[in-house]
Amino acid sequence: MRIVVKIGGSVLNSLETASWLHDVQSLVADRHHLMIVHGAGSLITEALARHHVATAFVNGQRVTTAEVITDVIREMRGTASMTVVSLCRQMGISAVGLSGADGQIFDAEMIDESLGLVGRVAAVRPQLLEKLWSLNMLPVITPVAPDIQTGQLLNLNGDWAASGLAQKLGASVLLFYTDTGGVRWDRSDPDSLMREITVRQAQDLIDQGRVAAGMIPKVQSAVEAVANGVGKVGIGRWCEPTMTTWVVRGE
Ligand SMILES: Nc1ncnc2c1ncn2[C@@H]1O[C@H](COP(=O)(O)OP(=O)(O)OP(=O)(O)O)[C@@H](O)[C@H]1O
Ligand SMILES: [Mg+2]
Repeated sequence: MRIVVKIGGSVLNSLETASWLHDVQSLVADRHHLMIVHGAGSLITEALARHHVATAFVNGQRVTTAEVITDVIREMRGTASMTVVSLCRQMGISAVGLSGADGQIFDAEMIDESLGLVGRVAAVRPQLLEKLWSLNMLPVITPVAPDIQTGQLLNLNGDWAASGLAQKLGASVLLFYTDTGGVRWDRSDPDSLMREITVRQAQDLIDQGRVAAGMIPKVQSAVEAVANGVGKVGIGRWCEPTMTTWVVRGE
């Protein structure tokens, strides 16, 4: 079974780390064809502040100039990727850090000029991934990839990258790990986690402002994955499905 797991930068250095590592370990042990896509959390924002580069977000996507992409690549493909790879190593998992450019795994296409160097997943070539899976190795993907037309490296939102890859790889499962566990009815109340939301409810939650900020691209990209045939899409934890928000078809 092909499974795509997005590890939010928000859980890379927190107490939540143990839960996703445990889940990844059991999925690898079950010989699933697993791929991690990671985020960066505050690493990029901190690096930009150190370098006095201003940045802005439009609909949850970071406006990415030529100056910004340099820090994105450095922090994502460097610190964030190596953190995930070395955490996996501590659990006895052979992980390999790769961007879309490595082994030509995937290309991107620009979303909108106004966002600058920001892309979405375009062509995917799974040959290297299949090779790694056959060696029982775990690909850890940094969401940066070459523009399919020009080769210019583009920054991808991690949630949209995970969803795009899951769709194009025909994955059976797409799972997002984030600091809140799943989608909450009341974002400040951990007890209000919703066990299931339909595609229609997802849109309502966004319209009502209950789903906000970094949860918006997660829910929207989850909805797109459900609509395009990814069998099981959840925001939460594989080994404790009762603590997960499953996004399902329907009104
Ligand atoms: N209804 C909601 N339920 C849960 N979290 C919500 C909700 N609405 C907004 N959020 C926010 O979404 C955040 C998760 O998204 P965020 O982008 O910050 O993390 P991530 O995607 O895991 O990390 P990264 O973006 O670094 O990959 C939560 O910390 C929370 O503040
Ligand atoms: Mg996020």
